Amino acid sequence: MNNIEQAAEFLKQEDVVAIPTETVYGLAGSAYSEKAIKKIFEVKNRPFYNPLIVHIKSIDDLAKIATNIPPLAYKLADAFWPGPLTMVLDKQDCISDLVTGGKSTVAVRLPGHPVTLELLNQLDFPLVAPSANPFNYLSPTSAHHVEEQLGDKIPYILDGGNCEKGVESTIIGFKNNTPILFRLGALSMEDIEEVAGELTVLNTSKNTPDAPGMLLKHYSPTTKFCLSDNIEQSIEQYRNKRIGLITFNSTVNSTSVFYQIALSNKNDLKEAASNLFSTLHNLDKMNLDVIIAERFPDNGLGKTINDRLQRAASDSTIL
Ligand code: TXA
Ligand code: MG
Repeated sequence: MNNIEQAAEFLKQEDVVAIPTETVYGLAGSAYSEKAIKKIFEVKNRPFYNPLIVHIKSIDDLAKIATNIPPLAYKLADAFWPGPLTMVLDKQDCISDLVTGGKSTVAVRLPGHPVTLELLNQLDFPLVAPSANPFNYLSPTSAHHVEEQLGDKIPYILDGGNCEKGVESTIIGFKNNTPILFRLGALSMEDIEEVAGELTVLNTSKNTPDAPGMLLKHYSPTTKFCLSDNIEQSIEQYRNKRIGLITFNSTVNSTSVFYQIALSNKNDLKEAASNLFSTLHNLDKMNLDVIIAERFPDNGLGKTINDRLQRAASDSTIL
C-alpha cells in the first residue's frame, strides 16, 4: 500500500500506521495523541519505560519539541538531517511522559525518506515511531517484514520499498555541549566525530533503562545465534547441526554448512549493514539449528553490525 493521503487520514484519526524510513520501518502515531501512543506500546508489546523517538519534518520544528538545545545539536542537525541521527535533548512541556517514559529528555530525529517526509508535510503534528517489530525481535527493513510481524494488528502499512540503511539511527545525547553515544547505528561514530569532536560512549555493560536500545538482549532472531571470532571452530562445534552462516565477504568451503551468505561481496560495510536484518529475517525462517555470524571489522558501520550481532547472540554462545 502506498497511499500517503490514506496513511495521513489514519494518523489524523489517532490510529497507528507503519511508515518507511531510511533506517528501518517505524510504527507511527501522533506525538500528541495519548490514544495513538498507547496503541503503539500495545501493538509492540513494549514496556512503557522504553521511550519513543519523535520524528519531525524540519529543523525549524526542533525547538517545538526540545528546549535548552546546545549549539552543537544544531551543528549536527545541519550536517546530518534529514538522516539517521537521533538526538536526546531536554523536552518541551508539550511532550508527554508517555513518549519519554517519564524522563525529562526526548529523542528527536528528522528522517531521510521522501515518502515519510511527504507524509509529515501533510500533518500538523510530529510522529512518534519505534521500529515496527514486536519488542525484542528483529527490526523490519521492508513493508513485507512489517506485514509478517504486525500485519493483523495495524490498519495500514505505508510501503516505501526496502530501507536504504537497514539498521536503526545512531542516538546521541549531550553533557555540557559534548556528545555522548547512546546507541550505535546507521551513522558511523567517525562521521559524527568529524563534526562534533570525540564521542564519549555511554557505559552499557548493564541493562540500563537510560537507553533501552542498549538492553543486552535485543534485536534477536528466534533461532539460536552465535557470534564467532573463529568460524571454522564454530562450524566444527555444530558439525552435525543445520548451520546458517553469515560472513562479511568470504565463502567458507564446508559441507557442514546448510546455507551461507556474505553480506557484502565487495567488502563494503554500508552494504553489509543494509543487508543485515533482511538476512537475519530470512535465516530465521529456514529452520536452522544455529546461525553463526563472523565478527566484523571494528570500524565505521562494522561497529554497528557487531553491536547488533552481539545483542542477537546475547542469550546464546559468544565464541
Ligand atoms: O532508526 C530509528 O531510530 C528507528 C526509525 C523508525 O526511526 N526507530 C527506532 O526506535 O529505532 P526504537 O523505539 O526502536 O528505539 C528508540 C531508542 C530506544 O532504545 C530508546 O531507549 C531510545 O531510543 N530513547 C528514546 N528516548 C530516549 C531518551 N529520552 N533518552 C535515552 N534514550 C532514549
Ligand atoms: Mg527498536
